[in-house]
Amino acid sequence: MKKTVAIDGPAGAGKSTIAKLVAEKLGYIYIDTGAMYRAVAWKVLDVGVEPTDGNIVGIAEKLDVRLRFIGDAVRVFADDTDVTDSIRTPQVTALVSKVAQLGPVRAKMVELQRKMAADGGVVMDGRDIASNVLPNADVKIFLTASIGERALRRWKEMKAKGYDEPIEKLEAEIAARDKADSEREISPLVRVPEAVLLDTTGMPIERVVEKVMELCG
Ligand code: DC
Repeated sequence: MKKTVAIDGPAGAGKSTIAKLVAEKLGYIYIDTGAMYRAVAWKVLDVGVEPTDGNIVGIAEKLDVRLRFIGDAVRVFADDTDVTDSIRTPQVTALVSKVAQLGPVRAKMVELQRKMAADGGVVMDGRDIASNVLPNADVKIFLTASIGERALRRWKEMKAKGYDEPIEKLEAEIAARDKADSEREISPLVRVPEAVLLDTTGMPIERVVEKVMELCG
């Protein structure tokens, strides 16, 4: 039977890396829900309006956010634009928590996410997957790591993309995003009691993948 696997956790915990590898091993689809909120934030910046709640909701309502599975790769589209790379800029990252706090934006994204998971065979990562999007997921994992390690991972990721930001700045941004994501009113980042806690501080990626595979049993 094809299962649904929910992976939640804070920024930089390694969710997307792990979820992608696990999906590949299981022959499942990987759904990056953060990328969907990022696509909305990208569009707001692209349109160039003031990012007020009203403007963000107006743009999100009209926007067609889609994940396209091309072979093994997942590409993110905002209407007809491939935004897979452009949703990872510091500007998008700075705006996305605000976008993800808005009820109408979340309602639209959650509906799309549930549709994509309807037939099972998905590994979905985000902040509210086990608690809200897929409360009946077969496997629920809460992935985390120390803030120092998460900032270091983000720094390496950004460096590889040509951004050289001070690690202290990245750590402060991650802490701010953790706070915004955990304290927002609608579907905050929480660990549901039944989720297995995996602290990946100091753990090599392969070991984390192995552990998650065991849980997917
Ligand atoms: O995982 P990420 O950094 O790409 O997520 C981008 C933002 O979107 C993050 O600040 C939290 C938010 N998010 C959310 O609120 N719910 C999700 N299911 C996924 C991401």
